[in-house]
Amino acid sequence: MCGIVGYVGGQSALDVVIAGLKRLEYRGYDSAGVAVIADGGLASAKKAGKLVNLEKALVEAPLPGGTTGIGHTRWATHGGPTDANAHPHADNAGRVAVVHNGIIENFAALRTELTGRGHDLTSETDTEVVAHLLAEAFTSCGELAESMRRVCGRLEGAFTLVAVHADEPDVVVGARRNSPLVVGVGDGEAFLASDVAAFIAHTRSAIELGQDQVVELRRDGVRVTDFDGADAHGDVREYHIDWDASAAEKGGYDYFMLKEIAEQPKAVADTLLGRINVEGALTLDDLRIPSRVLRAADKVVIVACGTAFHAGLIAKYAIEHWTRIPCEVELASEFRYRDPILNTRTLVVAISQSGETMDTLMALRHARDQGATVLAICNTNGSTIPRESDAVLYTHAGPEVAVASTKAFLTQLVACYLVALYLGQLRGTKYGDEIRAVIRELSRVSHEVERVLETMEPVRELARSLADKKTVLFLGRHVGYPVALEGALKLKELAYMHAEGFAAGELKHGPIALIEEDVPVVVVVPSPRGRSVLHDKIVSNIQEIRARGARTIVIAEEGDEAVVPYADHLIRIPVTPTLLQPLVSTVPLQVFACELATARGNEVDQPRNLAKSVTVE
Ligand code: F6R
Repeated sequence: MCGIVGYVGGQSALDVVIAGLKRLEYRGYDSAGVAVIADGGLASAKKAGKLVNLEKALVEAPLPGGTTGIGHTRWATHGGPTDANAHPHADNAGRVAVVHNGIIENFAALRTELTGRGHDLTSETDTEVVAHLLAEAFTSCGELAESMRRVCGRLEGAFTLVAVHADEPDVVVGARRNSPLVVGVGDGEAFLASDVAAFIAHTRSAIELGQDQVVELRRDGVRVTDFDGADAHGDVREYHIDWDASAAEKGGYDYFMLKEIAEQPKAVADTLLGRINVEGALTLDDLRIPSRVLRAADKVVIVACGTAFHAGLIAKYAIEHWTRIPCEVELASEFRYRDPILNTRTLVVAISQSGETMDTLMALRHARDQGATVLAICNTNGSTIPRESDAVLYTHAGPEVAVASTKAFLTQLVACYLVALYLGQLRGTKYGDEIRAVIRELSRVSHEVERVLETMEPVRELARSLADKKTVLFLGRHVGYPVALEGALKLKELAYMHAEGFAAGELKHGPIALIEEDVPVVVVVPSPRGRSVLHDKIVSNIQEIRARGARTIVIAEEGDEAVVPYADHLIRIPVTPTLLQPLVSTVPLQVFACELATARGNEVDQPRNLAKSVTVE
């Protein structure tokens, strides 16, 4: 939430910062702003709305050139999306500028205090107090980094701050508490950003800051301290970013989401790479949790939000089946505020694409406080959630830029299957043969995802034909139920339509009242093999809703002829083991939502009111 960039070096700061903001716009697009140090002073511009508004404003009223600057793209928390509330915020003398991601919880008290001392605060934001506090601190100590340390000591809440001061023209200072901030180290230049994507075109050397640290950037180096000023270099992690700038570009697609849907076969294959040995067994060498702890675990609790939560719901079916360990799945935002029963034998799995979701982070801290072992499943190297977990299983989806998660979801599923199968393999259950067979199937699954993608034209056509509908319902059973929830979530967030997912068995307990003439209902049908009772039951459900006028859109395995008479539209998916079916059945739902959103003229990559990486609770 909110994207932040800072730069000091030999290039035009404005160019670097604007290019960086373009790559971070997925984090928020309510307003954008920049500030540069030029001609001994501070020059800034900010505009409500998307970055393009700011770019237009800069063409009409260019800023003077400078080589030190900061920028921000906002997801509004305190104060509406107006020019006045846009960042950067400055002090009354216009010497210091600051950008912020997070929430400063004690801003009201600080504001009253500042107003009492004669400061004139003009925005409704929590951020503006920081600019004024920095200005006061700078007057007394004459150094921006020291000013930042003093100010951070007074702030409550979660924040990433980046600031510049006209009296220290070659310095950018950042601070971090519970919110992401990474440093990019170039040759004679340095960068600060919420995400490495902002500076990947310039350098692939990054430093991950720890909690409660202040970083001072100069052309020739970077200094990291804690909030008390003690050197904290030993406490940061330097790393090489293993993807390049092209991975964060659209590469010929109209939208990032289309590109990311298309990348799924590779993302799935990459996430499996090196994790299945020649004997067909799993080797999760990166899982640093000792085998004895995994063997002793008597409960698995999965915490996650949104799409990642849906991956967790699917994981429950796999974990309980293959390992025979009870598994609970909980929305991270709920888990944290009740009184969950955990102990040293509980394995908590925190699933997060960004690794920065505040609700999930708080849930994992809550779990660790009670002695549970926490395993993160994460797509973002070095982010906070894996840092604070006992171990991490990285998904290798590459950067996901579109706000609606697609390839990250599929790779989260793969990682969950790996955990379930590995636990099963380690503990030895009656399903040993099945586990070995499923591991073999997993190696083939990226090819099946590819096959689904090749047959999506009728799904796109169908989506376009439904663009004027008000409601779409989704039904599923077993692992198809979370898939139905995910299909509905994608449609809500992208097409802004009423969409709901139900367990098909629940239909007669209420939701069937929603069925009326021509209402589209997507039904995810379990495989007719194996658990055929489930299949028979859902075929009955399709008949029940069709008898009441629903237009049935049926997603069913190749060769499943039983559904044919009742499907107004039939979407075929390849035959897979029952528990793996979500890897192929989710894909048409992603394509469906993307196309429907496009047909309704919506912004696919940046749906309204949303932001990727939700770093506030
Ligand atoms: C929906 C979506 C969100 C995220 C959720 C968790 O398409 O992307 O629901 O899944 O905000 O985000 P992460 O996985 O980054 O913790």
